[in-house]
Amino acid sequence: MTATKLLHIDSSILGDNSASRAITAAAVERLRELHPGVEVTHRDLAAAPIDHLTLEAYGQLAEGEDLREFLEADIVVIGAGFYNFTIPTQLKAWLDRIVVRGTTFSYDENGVKGLVAGKRVVVALARGNVYHSGSPFAAYEHGETLLRTILGFIGLGDAQYIIAEGIGRGEDARKAAIEGAVAEARQLTAGEPVAA
Ligand SMILES: Cc1cc2nc3c(=O)[nH]c(=O)nc-3n(C[C@H](O)[C@H](O)[C@H](O)COP(=O)(O)O)c2cc1C
Repeated sequence: MTATKLLHIDSSILGDNSASRAITAAAVERLRELHPGVEVTHRDLAAAPIDHLTLEAYGQLAEGEDLREFLEADIVVIGAGFYNFTIPTQLKAWLDRIVVRGTTFSYDENGVKGLVAGKRVVVALARGNVYHSGSPFAAYEHGETLLRTILGFIGLGDAQYIIAEGIGRGEDARKAAIEGAVAEARQLTAGEPVAA
């Protein structure tokens, strides 16, 4: 039996001060407990950014290394800060490598179909202000909504989202938001089957 593979992606530019990195670290630690022997690959997209998509790269997406790594993973943990109302550009560059027609989605006379199956995805998102549904700035939220759209589009509509918000509203709010999200990450359960 091959070992369970976990792909851990961080995209925050804030290094040790990153809230989303603290949450993904707790999630990965928890998933290691749940899946002893899991093989973890850490991709730090801030330390080693992926180039913007170009026409040339677009033509070779199906052979891409980032796509291969994503497809091979049984579990994917994605961390994102909320910058200028959306996800970090580094994470968008990664998403541009894994949304691949014929591999992760199909689009034909029958409509659109996500082709990714059997993968567990946990998303950790950290936002400075508060944007949850019903809050005054909910309409400014283009990070979680973008991730839900793109991941859902390729078949990952059942991804789990752990959100820390209000990070920028003072030290107490920051601490409470991060602690709450880290506690949530520590409570992840074995959940859905992880092998395709
Ligand atoms: C470049 C930059 C842009 C930001 N833009 C926003 C924003 O548009 N709205 C917001 O609520 N917070 C914004 N923030 C605050 C971040 O969402 C907050 O610091 C969060 O913790 C970022 O996640 P991270 O700590 O994992 O990087 C911004 C922070 C940075 C560094």
